[in-house]
Amino acid sequence: MDLDGLDKNRLPQHVAIIMDGNGRWAQQRGKSRIEGHRRGKTSVRVIVEFSRKIGIRFLSLYAFSTENWLRPHDEVHALMGLLEHYLIAEQPKMMRYGIRLLSVGDRDRLPLGVRRTLEDVISLTRENNRMTVILALSYSGKDEIVRMTKKLACDVRDGKCAPEDIDEEMIAAHMDTPEVPEPDLLIRTSGEMRVSNFYLWQIAYSELYVTPTLWPDFREQEYLQALMEYQRRRRRFGRTDEQLVASMPSSVEAGGSKS
Ligand code: FPP
Repeated sequence: MDLDGLDKNRLPQHVAIIMDGNGRWAQQRGKSRIEGHRRGKTSVRVIVEFSRKIGIRFLSLYAFSTENWLRPHDEVHALMGLLEHYLIAEQPKMMRYGIRLLSVGDRDRLPLGVRRTLEDVISLTRENNRMTVILALSYSGKDEIVRMTKKLACDVRDGKCAPEDIDEEMIAAHMDTPEVPEPDLLIRTSGEMRVSNFYLWQIAYSELYVTPTLWPDFREQEYLQALMEYQRRRRRFGRTDEQLVASMPSSVEAGGSKS
């Protein structure tokens, strides 16, 4: 893989991916949707591995939305099986390479076996610190905001804080994974121009990259294109170019700090 052109010092700290197009990939080849998901699982492995190699610190993968529970039972069952198999098969590699696993979403809705496996791997990898993979499972951004609001409401009720104290920082601290920085880059495969209820709070200033490539075909080369495109962007965080150049030149280019 030719990494020329990629500036290792200006990588996004956190890449989030909406993995879409498994069904269409399968349909185009006269295969079952489940075959598409199986092939999508290979892309997951490849992209995690490549992220680790180049030094991405946080990688979020939207693996199963709350809306996905409405799919046919066989498909949901197959997706849960693939997920459990992935967790079991990849666990040794996560330990070998210092990868920590986290999840966002409503774990209680997952089948018991999947939830236990997920919690085991999360617990086993919790001290790993080279890279963090966050799986969004039974996840929707609105649902996470509802969870956060309930936690805050309880804190107010229990006298831990007053309504006037609530600010952006406090909201962020009550989301599912407060320790994870907001995504710098959000990638969506299969060409749809939607965020589909993913990380609604966290993507306020994320750079968006949409590719027509279907997720099972999304591999290193396409990922590299997305990262290089990110490095060509100027992140302004609502300010003017002149302000950025004058005040904090290091944050102008994508990959610089926004603090
Ligand atoms: C979207 O394709 C993809 C999903 C609903 C699930 C993503 C799952 C995987 C990549 C496989 C297993 C995951 C892990 C983490 C091992 P779609 O079915 O909506 O495609 P379509 O829009 O073409 O129908």
